[in-house]
Amino acid sequence: MIPTLEWLPNGVNFLDQTKLPLEETYVLAKNYNEVATVIRDMIVRGAPAIGVAGAMGVALGIQSSTAKDIPALNAEVAVICDTLATTRPTAVNLFWAIGRIRDLYNSLAAAKTPIPQIKSAVVAEARRMYDEDIAACKAMGAFGAELLPKQGTVLTHCNAGALATCGYGTALGVIRAAVERGHQIDVLADETRPYLQGARLTAWELMHDNIPTTVLCDNMSAHLMSKGRIQAVIVGADRIAANGDVANKIGTYGVAILAKEHGIPFYVAAPWSTLDLNTPTGAGIPIEQRSAREVTHSNGKQMTPNGVGIENPAFDVTPAKYIAAIITERGILRAPYAESISVMSAQPAHTSA
Ligand code: MRU
Repeated sequence: MIPTLEWLPNGVNFLDQTKLPLEETYVLAKNYNEVATVIRDMIVRGAPAIGVAGAMGVALGIQSSTAKDIPALNAEVAVICDTLATTRPTAVNLFWAIGRIRDLYNSLAAAKTPIPQIKSAVVAEARRMYDEDIAACKAMGAFGAELLPKQGTVLTHCNAGALATCGYGTALGVIRAAVERGHQIDVLADETRPYLQGARLTAWELMHDNIPTTVLCDNMSAHLMSKGRIQAVIVGADRIAANGDVANKIGTYGVAILAKEHGIPFYVAAPWSTLDLNTPTGAGIPIEQRSAREVTHSNGKQMTPNGVGIENPAFDVTPAKYIAAIITERGILRAPYAESISVMSAQPAHTSA
């Protein structure tokens, strides 16, 4: 399994995704501020991985605190959580994960638990979230595999794989599970401008697993769909509103419209921690705007004239009407999503397939 991130005795170790596929190097974050930098700079990225990184960042901050009493520690925990929560705005997994560690901390602090015990409990909880994330990916794979063709080509956008999670992946986890069950699948990976998660990361990790993979530029899928070359599309998600609208990497919305036009099923795979039941529709999902330089430059080389206007929204929202199914670790959601999400949210977490 590709070690996307790992809790170590001296910090959290991250595979540096900005260097892939050419270099396999690691960055050790020794304190919560360094974890925040790793998330902001996309050394780790992908909603579930960002979530667990945030949880480990809070745990690391609490563990290394020198506060002598609970009021002093309370003040530090507030700063730690705020610092990590201001790194990236769209993936709701980050806020869910920080909230889970913070809730645990608050209940232990309210019960006047000794500080050393609080420290070990929050570290254990963050590490549990790591294991749960992998289990959720495996369950999504088991539920979703049969949706993919027995033989055919599946398009994916961005990277929703082992690199975007603690291991196995969401959309790529479903592809892996289908391949493990004997499906003959060729993967088409959109290059995913401007950050090239498809060209650099999806291609790298699928080749690692010997799954046949072809990279295409983002403007090529319509042509291939029109030629009957794509049988299904599967992507991940950064936030799913209560009505089933899905925020995912910029470009996903266009792919979903194209899939609908060509009668190709468009699937989303995401853990339950990506659902944001407090946001009624996709219109309420905050969209991260990233730096102009990601668009103006490629590999350090300027590609646009000085002073030209630049847009760089990192995500877009795919309306629920384009989505054939949402695969979660609790089961498969179908339209009408407001209803199916509400019914499934009453079920316990991590139902195995
Ligand atoms: O900007 P990124 O690389 O963090 O965006 C990642 C995506 O959009 C993924 O598709 C999404 O987080 C799902 S990952 C399982």
